[in-house]
This record gives sequence, C-alpha cells and structure tokens, in this order.
Amino acid sequence: MIKPIFSDLNHIDLPFITGDGIGPEISMATKKVLEAAVTKVHGDSKSLSFIDVVAGEAAFKATGEWLPQSTLSIIKEKKIALKGPLMTPVGNGQRSINVQLRKELDLYACVRPVQHFPNVPYPVKRALLDIVIFRENTEDVYRGIEYEAGSKEALKLIQFLKDEFGADLPLIDSTSVGIKPISKEGSQRIVRSAIQHAIDNNRKRVSLIHKGNIMKYTEGMFRSEGYDIAETEFKDHIFSMRIYEAIKKDQGESKARSILEQAEKDNKIIVNDVIADAGLMHLTMNPTCFDVLVLTNLNGDYYSDASAGIVGGLGVAPGANINPESGCGVFEATHGTAPDIAGKDLANPTSLILSACMMLDFIGWKKVSQVIGYNLRQCFEEGILTSDLAPKGVSPVACSSFSSSLVKKISYS
Ligand code: NAI
Repeated sequence: MIKPIFSDLNHIDLPFITGDGIGPEISMATKKVLEAAVTKVHGDSKSLSFIDVVAGEAAFKATGEWLPQSTLSIIKEKKIALKGPLMTPVGNGQRSINVQLRKELDLYACVRPVQHFPNVPYPVKRALLDIVIFRENTEDVYRGIEYEAGSKEALKLIQFLKDEFGADLPLIDSTSVGIKPISKEGSQRIVRSAIQHAIDNNRKRVSLIHKGNIMKYTEGMFRSEGYDIAETEFKDHIFSMRIYEAIKKDQGESKARSILEQAEKDNKIIVNDVIADAGLMHLTMNPTCFDVLVLTNLNGDYYSDASAGIVGGLGVAPGANINPESGCGVFEATHGTAPDIAGKDLANPTSLILSACMMLDFIGWKKVSQVIGYNLRQCFEEGILTSDLAPKGVSPVACSSFSSSLVKKISYS
C-alpha cells in the first residue's frame, strides 16, 4: 500500500512545521527524541534532518500568508511533514489551515491510534482501548456545503427540494441546510486503506461504523461499499460478517458459527459493521470488541475525540493524514495550540512524539519508532508524567525534562 520510496533512503529531509502556542516546546522535544532514536538505531548509516517551514500564525507574521505556497511546495516535493498545532483565527473567514493542507494534498485517510499508557489516569472503569481509527478526510461535513437559514442559497435549495422531490421542509425561512456528500470511491478508498493497515499490522478486526439505519444512501452506502471492497479485494484475508448473516439466514446459526470459527482459526480478519450510536456505547463499556475502526468524516471526529478522552486526553493522541496511494503524509498531534499553557514548559510532547513514530512507520523506519515507543512506555511505567497526566501526589515534570528523560533512556537503552 505504502510506496517504498523512503525505506531505501539513507537520509530523509523532513519538513517540520513548528506550529503556534505550545508548538515550539513540543517540536523541540520531538526533534531531540527523533535525533537520539535515529542515531541509536542507525548510527552514521542513516540520518534525518529537519527543514523548518512555516504555517499558521508564525507564517502570517513573517509572510502575510497563513499557509505559504513555499511551505506547500516543500511538503509536496518531500511528500511527508511533521506538524505542530496551528492557530486558526476565528471570525475572519480564514479557512482552517489543517483542512487546507489535507485538501491540497488529498490526504483522505485520517489515522488515529488510541492506546492506554501505564500510570496515565483515565475517567472510565477500564481503559483497555488499543485501536486505530481511520476517518475519511475529504467528504461528508468536511465538504462544507452548508447554507444559513434565510439566505438566498438556503431558500432556493429548500424550494428546489420541495418542488422537485416533495421534500418535507415546512419551515422555509428558518431552516439552515447542509449537504452530506458520500461517494462510492471515497468510501472504497478509506475502507481499503483500513483493511490493508489491519493486514500489515496483524490486527484482528475491522469495524465499519455507520448510521446506515437512518441515512441509507450515504452512511448505508458507506457500509455496503465497505463490505464489497472487503469481500472482493481482500477475500483471502478477511471473513465478512455480512456473509455470516447470509449463511445464518440460509443454513442456520450453527453452520454460520462453525464457518466463523474456522475463519478465526485461519487468522482471517473479521470485517463487521456497527451502528454508530451503539458503537460509542461499546467503546466505553466493551472496548476490546474494537480493533481497527473505519468511519465517515463526522462519525470519525466523534470517535477519535471520545476514545482519546477514554485513555487520558489530548496529550497522548497522535494523528496522521495520509494518502497511501500517493505516499504523501502530514503527521500531527490532534490537540491545538494550548494558549493557556504556551511558553510555560508545561505541555505534554507525547502526542507529537507518537505522531513522529507514525511518520517513521510510514516511511519504513520501524526500528526507530519501536525504540521511541518502548522507551516512552518506560517513562510512563516509571511515573514520569507531565502536568496534564500526573495524578494527585505525583510531581509532574516539565516538557523539556520529559524529553530529556526520554532521550537519556533511548541513548542508554
Ligand atoms: P487545545 O487542544 O489547544 O486545548 C484544549 C485544552 O487541552 C487546553 O486546556 C490545553 O491546555 C490542553 N492541552 C492541549 N494540548 C496539550 C498538551 N500537549 N499538553 C498539555 N495540555 C494540552 O484546544 P483549543 O483551546 O480549543 O484550541 C486552541 C487553538 O488551537 C485554536 O486556535 C484552534 O484553532 C487550534 N487548534 C489547532 C489544531 C491543529 O493544529 N491540529 C487542532 C485543534 C485546535
């Protein structure tokens, strides 16, 4: 799935957007960790250097543009980037830079792994989540097709829907309308990349999450296209619960169950579907029933934030926006610029460090990401926690001390 253009290279130039707010602190921490881990694993045989590029407030101050063309060109040329959080100004019509980047580079898959780390307090009874979320990044509400109540566009659209399709929209003047486009191609490619990820990473289950019981032609089509892709393109690797249901109906439950058991023995990935609302309940009550999740854009937003909350919050929530076909990826923490703690050396750099690990996996430098991941877990095991995670009675460490501890562990491991 991923173009092997990076793994053969002995040197990688990584465009790095430091970001606003806590961006400089967590970026500095992440750079030190990356340098230490690459040296540890590859010595002088492989190297990584950073190309500092700007976006967000820092770019606006320097160039008058929020997302300079020069930044985009470098990312397009190098294909990858690591990105700190960016401030999006509110109320001046400026589009989110993150959304612009995803659109410009067609980064259709938003990938968010969620796992619990030792000693990190969590709000639910048991935080056993170890999942990867694949959120579709270009359609659904991200298309932004929405018209305000009373605007000429809304009035015209409502009138059209009423006249042409007999739509039941009685409150013409006071109704805002939005369009939720979901395409077959968009659904197919995100499901394809989620199943491929499950195969490449020995995952056991891929769940298609949808609200197809209510929205049959958008969410419902996402489900059916997902099953079609699974059953045709991945038939040697998966067992489809849609087929299970068909066998159960035709030949009875015990027959269906025995075929499912055989598929599990054969290490087939189970592809099932879950209604979005019930799935959110299972996420908190029965978290081990999930493994890889694939979702439309809005559902994916809810699931990724809800699951980040379950394992302790934004400080441990990495993310990637990728296009597996083009080999392009922008890797970023899922939190924002945290203006309330910016410049105080309080930020938790873990999300950006874990995002850097996703970037390393993406380019095929898996040993480096394993070294970082292992030692990061050791830091947590020893109760080295920044203030967002430290429970009462545990003294938190600063952002810079956290990265120094991690660098030390990597260097002497
Ligand atoms: P936020 O994520 O910046 O902060 C929410 C809360 O989480 C704050 O209390 C903050 O202190 C805490 N927090 C966030 N990251 C943390 C970290 N690494 N360590 C410790 N605590 C952390 O969200 P908010 O306040 O809604 O947004 C602030 C700005 O960030 C806005 O301009 C927004 O547009 C931008 N933003 C950028 C994103 C991106 O670049 N991917 C994503 C979300 C927001």
